Amino acid sequence: MKITVLGTGEGGRLHAAKLSELGHEVVVGTRDPATTLARTEPDMMGNPPMSEWLAAHPGIALLSFGAAAAAADRLVISGIDGASAVNALSGIKEQLTGKVLVDYGIPFNYGVSGPHPWPTPWGSMPTFAVLDSDSLGEQIQRALPNTHVVKAFCTQEQATVVSPGDFNGGDHTMPISGNDPEAKAAVVDLLKSYGWTDILDLGPLVSARGQEMYSHLHSAIGFALGGDRRFGLKVVR
Ligand SMILES: NC(=O)c1ccc[n+]([C@@H]2O[C@H](COP(=O)([O-])OP(=O)(O)OC[C@H]3O[C@@H](n4cnc5c(N)ncnc54)[C@H](OP(=O)(O)O)[C@@H]3O)[C@@H](O)[C@H]2O)c1
Repeated sequence: MKITVLGTGEGGRLHAAKLSELGHEVVVGTRDPATTLARTEPDMMGNPPMSEWLAAHPGIALLSFGAAAAAADRLVISGIDGASAVNALSGIKEQLTGKVLVDYGIPFNYGVSGPHPWPTPWGSMPTFAVLDSDSLGEQIQRALPNTHVVKAFCTQEQATVVSPGDFNGGDHTMPISGNDPEAKAAVVDLLKSYGWTDILDLGPLVSARGQEMYSHLHSAIGFALGGDRRFGLKVVR
């Protein structure tokens, strides 16, 4: 299949590499390919320049967000920074018409500190730009009414999403949310190809609110375990 990953961050790269390994034709989207390829410094998360990463992953193409979205047969993964995703995706809604868009963004506001800040190893914990009565997933769906949005992947580190079997024998749970059963079935197939065996359909996209708001607990668990310790979410029932 021709699958597109929008985003050059750590998560986007992990998905693109895994999909290529699985034999798919993979295109990665970025704002401006020339600007992205001209970068010579690691990004703010320490990921090496995209030109180095592409050289190590021959066969993966880098295109603009719009051209990359247009290239997908059906499935597009959005790894666009949560604060920018609605705007960036709205600009390419024609190219996303009829497609399944998996959104794993978290609607974080970085650098905003309220009266009771939560100190973390990387500054104050970001606040949510939307919560309780809305979610990033629903905002994207409203902006792209002719695209089938599925919220998934955001309750795990993306390294775990693409390789669930790397620890605990793969015995952990992947929640998904979305309004269209066929779109969710396509995402379930993708997850099974990654190795997921426990996929929990939370129902309509409104349940994306729960997935996104879980991210503070995910961070807290990560701080408690320390360092690069990997962990998963398991719903025992
Ligand atoms: N990494 C994880 O394990 C993980 C886990 C759960 C959830 N999340 C969430 O998933 C999202 C993506 O995370 P990530 O770490 O993979 O990538 P990221 O570093 O958050 O985002 C990288 C992408 O966002 C694009 N971008 C940044 N500013 C933009 C703007 N103003 N307009 C349009 N595009 C813009 C970049 O475009 P260029 O390519 O042009 O630079 C790049 O493609 C985030 O919301 C994050 O909180 C991540």
